[in-house]
Amino acid sequence: MSEETLAQQHHHYHALRVARVIDETPDARSFVLEIPTERVEAFAYQAGQHLTFKVPFDGRDLLRCYSLSSSPECESEHKVTVKRIAGGSVSNWMNDNVSAGDVVQVLPPAGRFVLREADRSLVLFAGGSGITPVIALIKSALVRTARPMKLVYANRDAASIIFEAELRELRTRHADRLEVVHSLDDSEGYLTSERVQAQLAGHADAHFYLCGPGAFMEAVEQGLEAAGIPRDVVFKELFVSPEDDMPTAEERASTAEADAGALGCETLLVTVDGATHELAYEGGKTVLQTARDAGVQPPFSCEDGYCSCCMAKLIEGEVKMRKNDCLTPRDLEDGWVLACQSVPQTKTVKIDWDAG
Ligand SMILES: Cc1cc2nc3c(=O)[nH]c(=O)nc-3n(C[C@H](O)[C@H](O)[C@H](O)COP(=O)(O)OP(=O)(O)OC[C@H]3O[C@@H](n4cnc5c(N)ncnc54)[C@H](O)[C@@H]3O)c2cc1C
Ligand code: FES
Repeated sequence: MSEETLAQQHHHYHALRVARVIDETPDARSFVLEIPTERVEAFAYQAGQHLTFKVPFDGRDLLRCYSLSSSPECESEHKVTVKRIAGGSVSNWMNDNVSAGDVVQVLPPAGRFVLREADRSLVLFAGGSGITPVIALIKSALVRTARPMKLVYANRDAASIIFEAELRELRTRHADRLEVVHSLDDSEGYLTSERVQAQLAGHADAHFYLCGPGAFMEAVEQGLEAAGIPRDVVFKELFVSPEDDMPTAEERASTAEADAGALGCETLLVTVDGATHELAYEGGKTVLQTARDAGVQPPFSCEDGYCSCCMAKLIEGEVKMRKNDCLTPRDLEDGWVLACQSVPQTKTVKIDWDAG
């Protein structure tokens, strides 16, 4: 298959049949997807990546990301795991309506929450459904590396622990290098910054992987920061939904303001896969659009400001983001931007997708 055809396949939705549905806990189900032979290449993935689903809901299409809980090194099937969120549109729709034999619309795998090559030990923090990519990372790291690892897994109560049996089995099989610590809100209270710090003894040189909803991530990041862990060894995936599927008044104003500022930009320098490209900038386009129109292929997925796949470092100049549902104040402080939402505001703008 030609590069172009594969690239095209990466950025449109594919109709995939659900092969099996697995009840994991009272409020979470896994969905095993069938990948037709002609889509195998497009759906190749790394542990920790996610799929974006397009779901028809109330007369609109809603986009939601779901991480693969399967590991490409250990399992032949693609499996995602969806936990119900109280009042949530898509998570409940998936759990209530999707059965074996149904067809779902899915973008190929994407995402930066993947294992970085290193010899260091791994400390992984998962909150609730955040275990989904984390268990995939653990399974892959156990077969691909000799790295010792510790999982700290927070849940509301014992009944909410997704993959409890699989984790127990992994721990028994790899007792010499996998430690699993469960933290249950109903008996111990929420995981706090102090309790995070207590888990770090002997792991100052580790790589840290964090995944879960906002409040959990904030507590873990605060704990790591208080313990003096540098941010460049912390890798994270924040589980969020798009704020709203229709632009809010604030987003419309932000778009207009960003587009007005774009008029002064002439040159966009983008670094992707080790190569830097100098691109002429046309007002009103985002950094991602400009790069793609010039034939550069940076990573992206939802194009909606929420999956964080297109994250890149702003090295020079200024950009304005039309919307941002996933980067935290800490990320913005560190210079991260969402290329799919960033409109250049200065004469020259330099963006690096390879950083981090
Ligand atoms: C890269 C990525 C990977 C993801 N992988 C998974 C996964 O593997 N499994 C999984 O179950 N979810 C995952 N999510 C979260 C998922 O995409 C949805 O955000 C989630 O299912 C809620 O969607 P909804 O339509 O049901 O809720 P919505 O209708 O969007 O939201 C309803 C309410 O719940 C709040 N809310 C939304 N998400 C959460 C959350 N995670 N925790 C607490 N409150 C929330 C909203 O603020 C809102 O008030 C992932 C998100 C991202 C960005
Ligand atoms: S592509 Fe999803 S946030 Fe930019």
